[in-house]
Amino acid sequence: MLSNSALPAIERIQAMRVLLSDARIVTIRPIRPSDFAALRAFFAALSRATLRLRFHSPINELPERLLHDLTTVNPHAHVAFVAELSDSDVEQPAKLVAEARFIRGADAKSAEFALAVADSWRRVGLGTMLTKLLAQRARLSGVRRLCGDILEDNKAMRGLARSLGARLSRGMGCVRLSLEV
Ligand SMILES: CC(C)(COP(=O)(O)OP(=O)(O)OC[C@H]1O[C@@H](n2cnc3c(N)ncnc32)[C@H](O)[C@@H]1OP(=O)(O)O)[C@@H](O)C(=O)NCCC(=O)NCCS
Repeated sequence: MLSNSALPAIERIQAMRVLLSDARIVTIRPIRPSDFAALRAFFAALSRATLRLRFHSPINELPERLLHDLTTVNPHAHVAFVAELSDSDVEQPAKLVAEARFIRGADAKSAEFALAVADSWRRVGLGTMLTKLLAQRARLSGVRRLCGDILEDNKAMRGLARSLGARLSRGMGCVRLSLEV
């Protein structure tokens, strides 16, 4: 089991159990197409406020097409991880508590990243751990910078970004994050 400070290279492992700062344990692993139903359930359980912060619009339910795109990744251009309950029954769909991803843009040296942590799993280090994992994975594939736009009132993401040394600048109605990896 790992604490936040010791992440192995994720490309060498399929999944890792991690200990959060409140002693709960989750498994972090790459997303799979079979996570479609679990990802739908994850987003459906988020508060409207969280969905707005994650997708920048007041949505209730994610369209099937978007869920499909979010679960069908590509090791070069679109990398995504999920955190699931470690005691999930293998016969049942996974119970996800966080998702994080980056998507490479036309400029291969940078990628856009986004993440969401379930409302009752906040402030125990999951967002930090997933962002560090994305940064590590991005660096391995030649990406130098993870970028993202966040809403101006997104204090939590601003705090997380600052704690990791990201640069924040004012964008068009949003704040632009840039994290050197
Ligand atoms: C932003 C988000 C991912 C943070 O996830 P998290 O797992 O709670 O973050 P962590 O526990 O790793 O927190 C790391 C640091 O970020 C800062 N932070 C996190 N939440 C904060 C909050 N609500 N207010 C102020 N700072 C906050 C703190 O510095 C924190 O360190 P600390 O707990 O030791 O003080 C989570 O709040 C979330 O899912 N928000 C909704 C979706 C979203 O905004 N996504 C980003 C845009 S795509």
